[in-house]
Amino acid sequence: MSDEESEMRTALVTGASRGIGLAIAEELGRRGMRVLCVARSTESAGRAVAAVEAAGGVAEAYGCDVADAGAVAALGEEVLGKHGYVDTLVNNAGITRDNLFIRMDGSEWDEVLRTNLDSCFHMTRAFVRPMTRKRFGRILNISSVIGLTGNAGQANYAAAKAGMIGLTKSLAKELAARSITVNAVAPGFIETDMTSELGEETRGTILKLIPLKRMGTPADIASMVGYLSSPEAAYITGQVFTVDGGMVI
Ligand code: NAI
Repeated sequence: MSDEESEMRTALVTGASRGIGLAIAEELGRRGMRVLCVARSTESAGRAVAAVEAAGGVAEAYGCDVADAGAVAALGEEVLGKHGYVDTLVNNAGITRDNLFIRMDGSEWDEVLRTNLDSCFHMTRAFVRPMTRKRFGRILNISSVIGLTGNAGQANYAAAKAGMIGLTKSLAKELAARSITVNAVAPGFIETDMTSELGEETRGTILKLIPLKRMGTPADIASMVGYLSSPEAAYITGQVFTVDGGMVI
């Protein structure tokens, strides 16, 4: 590692292999951060690394199932053993398992809560202690407008995303004394694999609810995360930033 590289700020992004997480990894790379790309497998994380490097950034690949507490603890040990410290932690990995509540089974509930919410607990626990020692840190949780409004067929997802907001606000209060900021970003409808299966009719209905009259792009979310992770955002904590074309006003 060159002197220049050892002085770089480091960001870790979960779910970096595609969609919003990939755009965040690219954005943070462009901003001069070393980006630790975490995906389910090292191979898919490698694709994110290639994209960050193609844009002139520095990145590393890590495979980890964020829903697995043991795997997250091992990731923490590996990353902190190598770098000692992560400046920015972006909890982005997430899944949906939609079903009407009356038909939702325990596994659909558990899988979404473990992947979307428990992962934030385990990831933050793995990386927060060195932040408190360094008295600097940025924790960004990628929630959803659904965590604010609820949605029929998404009780599990809405509960997890609302849980992330409660966690964000509580952590912001606990960690402010150490100059660590904790914020949530709540995307609206963003063009990614997660929303690619929506039918034309649903898409039309959604577009009618968006004053800016388009679906969002992963880059729309990444630019907000880029700003919130920067030193300039030092006086912003405990907030939820809705990036949704005005859908929830
Ligand atoms: P996506 O499905 O395209 O990507 C999700 C990423 O998370 C993938 O890289 C996937 O491999 C990773 N991931 C899922 N489970 C994982 C696990 N157990 N361990 C490690 N990685 C895992 O989704 P998209 O759209 O990019 O979403 C990213 C985040 O933004 C999610 O938390 C999602 O809930 C949230 N979001 C997305 C919206 C949208 O309209 N696309 C709207 C609001 C929030």
